[in-house]
Amino acid sequence: MFEIRVACSEDLKKIYNLETFLFKEKAWSYASLGKEFKNSFSQIWILEKAREFLGYLIFRQILEEAEILRLGIRPEYQNQKLGTLFLKFFLNYCKERKIKKIYLEVEELNKAAFNLYQKLGFKESYRRKNYYKERTAIIMESKL
Ligand SMILES: CC(C)(COP(=O)(O)OP(=O)(O)OC[C@H]1O[C@@H](n2cnc3c(N)ncnc32)[C@H](O)[C@@H]1OP(=O)(O)O)[C@@H](O)C(=O)NCCC(=O)NCCS
Repeated sequence: MFEIRVACSEDLKKIYNLETFLFKEKAWSYASLGKEFKNSFSQIWILEKAREFLGYLIFRQILEEAEILRLGIRPEYQNQKLGTLFLKFFLNYCKERKIKKIYLEVEELNKAAFNLYQKLGFKESYRRKNYYKERTAIIMESKL
């Protein structure tokens, strides 16, 4: 059975390792992730199966809006609908808490993430050209 739970400080190292692997030069530093744990607007969740770490989600909630900052699934578990499962769980959480809008930013070339978000109802709202050095960032949002 899959379990989604709030991360604790003992999880920081494995989140950092996966963050570094998935996001390479755009990865958050260990210190930035540590700060996110202390940010009262932020939540860090992890996805596990039989206590095995499979992925993480970081978001911030301010009043009726939430921003997804990170979603990562371990490479060997990608394409098995775990991103979908994690995101659906998060969307339900947002609905229960009467969050009205969720937004996020995805790199234009990141088709996997773009398709996943689009499949779950997110729509492109605008683009920021040359945001990631020469690459474009797409801002997507979902109104609940
Ligand atoms: C983006 C990510 C979270 C998707 O997780 P996942 O568990 O592999 O995704 P799912 O198996 O739930 O796939 C759901 C949908 O996403 C899209 N998708 C997933 N992987 C894809 C790929 N390699 N290419 C194109 N579309 C893809 C598809 O539309 C897929 O639906 P389908 O299988 O019916 O075609 C995962 O690829 C990841 O961790 N990527 C690296 C980190 C990242 O880019 N995070 C997002 C930016 S914040």
